[in-house]
Amino acid sequence: MKGTDTDTGFEAVVRYVADNMAFEPDSYNESYLDRRISARMRRTDCDDYEGYLDILADSEDEQEALLDALSINVTSFFRNPPVWERLRDVLAMLTEEHRTVNCWSAPCADGREPYSIAMLARDDPNIRERAVEITATDIDAEALAEAREGVYESTRTTDIGSQLEPLSDPEAHVEITDDGTSFAVKDDVKRMVTFEKHDLISGRPKSGHDLVLCRNLLIYIDKSYKEPIFETLTDALREGGFLTIGKSETLPRSFRDAYDPYDRGKHIYRRK
Ligand SMILES: C[S@@+](CC[C@H](N)C(=O)[O-])C[C@H]1O[C@@H](n2cnc3c(N)ncnc32)[C@H](O)[C@@H]1O
Repeated sequence: MKGTDTDTGFEAVVRYVADNMAFEPDSYNESYLDRRISARMRRTDCDDYEGYLDILADSEDEQEALLDALSINVTSFFRNPPVWERLRDVLAMLTEEHRTVNCWSAPCADGREPYSIAMLARDDPNIRERAVEITATDIDAEALAEAREGVYESTRTTDIGSQLEPLSDPEAHVEITDDGTSFAVKDDVKRMVTFEKHDLISGRPKSGHDLVLCRNLLIYIDKSYKEPIFETLTDALREGGFLTIGKSETLPRSFRDAYDPYDRGKHIYRRK
């Protein structure tokens, strides 16, 4: 199906994606979808949505390229380092207070976020590493497969070595190849993380967590899906547990009463 007479060109492309491809555009906001579709239009030298829809309908390669462009899987180890300096304190406090500290990285993309929690726990003497258990979830099965693999390459634009700088001894946690370009997460770190597929919009509820990280997904999500996601996150936390959201993300007004700010500037909140 290529659209209806009443669809605008943009809507027809979105409809094509919804009907024919393994991606559900409804949950994402229009400006995000438009940015990704427009980027593909530039790459295919296409000036209008109608022309792009023809290319998309005719080419499996282009469908794959658009799917790639729509997957928001940008991530890094210790993304926004100042936030991780505060999470260091949070983890030290939690592991002093509780025998087991359950952490949830949602969404975890290719695993660098949950591995950052595990490495920090192993690296910082003030964090009781043995108490820390990490669940990491994402909707994207391929990202999860990469996460379980735990091998990351430095490229022209991604310097894994500098991403690991918050650690006092990175080589205690990753195996680095002689040429310094490939970083394999060590088994002791991997053992601390359990990966599973989970959709934050429609997935089953979770509970009993002490620290939940939900960073850099909400910015792409349509307004109407934000509240159900915050309900899932809030239910997942036990009283006194911590929630961290991304740098450009905000706590919806209707959830402000459920939390005390722990560090408002770093977007870390504490469940009442
Ligand atoms: C930009 S990454 C964020 C990764 C990490 N939290 C960070 O801040 O670096 C966004 C991730 O959200 C995942 N995602 C998109 N929609 C989702 C959903 N409905 N439920 C769970 N994960 C989702 C994508 O697959 C992608 O891996």
